[in-house]
Amino acid sequence: METIKRTKISDLLGLTTYGAEVNVKGWVRTRRGSKQVAFVALNDGSTIKNVQIVIDLEKIDEELVKKISTGTCLSVNGTLVESIGGGQSVEIQATAIEILGECDNTYPLQKKGQTMEFMRSVAHLRPRTNTFGAIFRIRHNMAYAIHKFFHDKGFYYFHTPIITASDCEGAGQMFQVTTMNLYDLKKDENGSIVYDDDFFGKQASLTVSGQLEGELAATALGAIYTFGPTFRAENSNTPRHLAEFWMIEPEVAFNDIYDNMELAEEFIKYCVSWALDNCMDDIKFLNDMFDKELIERLRSIVNTEFVRLKYTEGIEILEKAVADGHKFEFPVYWGVDLASEHERYLVEHHFKRPVILTDYPKEIKAFYMKQNEDGKTVRAMDVLFPKIGEIIGGSEREADYNKLLSRIEELGIPMKDMWWYLDTRRYGSCPHSGFGLGFERLLLFVTGMSNIRDVIPFPRTPNNAEF
Ligand code: 4AD
Ligand code: MG
Repeated sequence: METIKRTKISDLLGLTTYGAEVNVKGWVRTRRGSKQVAFVALNDGSTIKNVQIVIDLEKIDEELVKKISTGTCLSVNGTLVESIGGGQSVEIQATAIEILGECDNTYPLQKKGQTMEFMRSVAHLRPRTNTFGAIFRIRHNMAYAIHKFFHDKGFYYFHTPIITASDCEGAGQMFQVTTMNLYDLKKDENGSIVYDDDFFGKQASLTVSGQLEGELAATALGAIYTFGPTFRAENSNTPRHLAEFWMIEPEVAFNDIYDNMELAEEFIKYCVSWALDNCMDDIKFLNDMFDKELIERLRSIVNTEFVRLKYTEGIEILEKAVADGHKFEFPVYWGVDLASEHERYLVEHHFKRPVILTDYPKEIKAFYMKQNEDGKTVRAMDVLFPKIGEIIGGSEREADYNKLLSRIEELGIPMKDMWWYLDTRRYGSCPHSGFGLGFERLLLFVTGMSNIRDVIPFPRTPNNAEF
């Protein structure tokens, strides 16, 4: 077959050079036709759109054409022609075809309309479907938008460690990292494991958050963000939790909680606008197939001011709802860690727009948050979203050395893990704030998917580390 430089389908569909000889490569989505002519829909992942290949069976070897079925990988030379009728503007009249990879009828993606559960069992192949192609193209675009947003605002991308000895959130949900022989662990007289001979000479884990190191960076570079994988060994089998997820954590010197809220709102709106401006083909597909209100919901977020509300006021609203007969599964009282149903009530029923809830009881929030004068609450802020619940968690940080130290002692956090963090408050401490956005929670919102396992290529959840 004559060698012609490949054109990506995304580029090809915009061409008007009818009569040109072109080459495309990709995977067969469908094949139909008659005795004289076969029509193949070819997709190469560059766009959700397929290009139609028209195969005249008098010109192309019949034995070869017989082998073309859903999933087959082809290289096609042909003439670019204007398409009469149908969705696309152009199609290709094949002049020569090479089969790069055959695909027999055991291929799992032959039938349309498979369930999402089934798709998770073939996560190695599901990116080849329209749905997952769309989701992963959107995922890429969101990652790009995030870097662009922060870069354009003068933030520096700072790399925080994946392996760490400190538990940022203090929730004890860490995966341990060790090279010790688990069949022969050395223990001291109290039965505690001795880590002296382990790889790092102490107990080490996968990070739950890059925040603590991000704070060090903010007190040097001014404004930074992290964007990396984080790990949580929480045994929560929900549609919104992963054991491995990606988090974006900006941290800014001299920002108070109000600046922090403004940044969070501007940031999310930028990401959603970016998706609407740059991913419309894919979003439109997801809108039509799964969620007819998706585009409407995305547009409305961009144009809506988020509510700002104190935790205490949020509890009053929820208590009133209970008094008026609304049934929640979990109890509502001041001090409770809000469940997703509570968050969604505030966002979806009461305000009908995103809510930034602030000033939570200190007992349900992490040690590093700035303590309020009342002695009961901290300058925490969670951004709550329709259909998602918590999409962002953040706070103004405690900048006062003594207050931070006494909170660390109160909670019994081992000093040997925290000395370096306390140094930021010892040497030139400054007010500062930051937050963490769960990347997959943002993707849930932007794609309209209902399970977080479907917006990350290879989900890690309790009892699942396949692929
Ligand atoms: O609220 P979290 O635990 O806050 C922190 O980790 C802070 N250190 C962030 C900061 O202030 N720099 O987590 C932040 C966000 C949540 O709002 C949620 O969107 C997401 O991370 N998240 C998860 N996403 C998927 N699966 C999980 N198991 C998640 N846990 C948190
Ligand atoms: Mg949180």
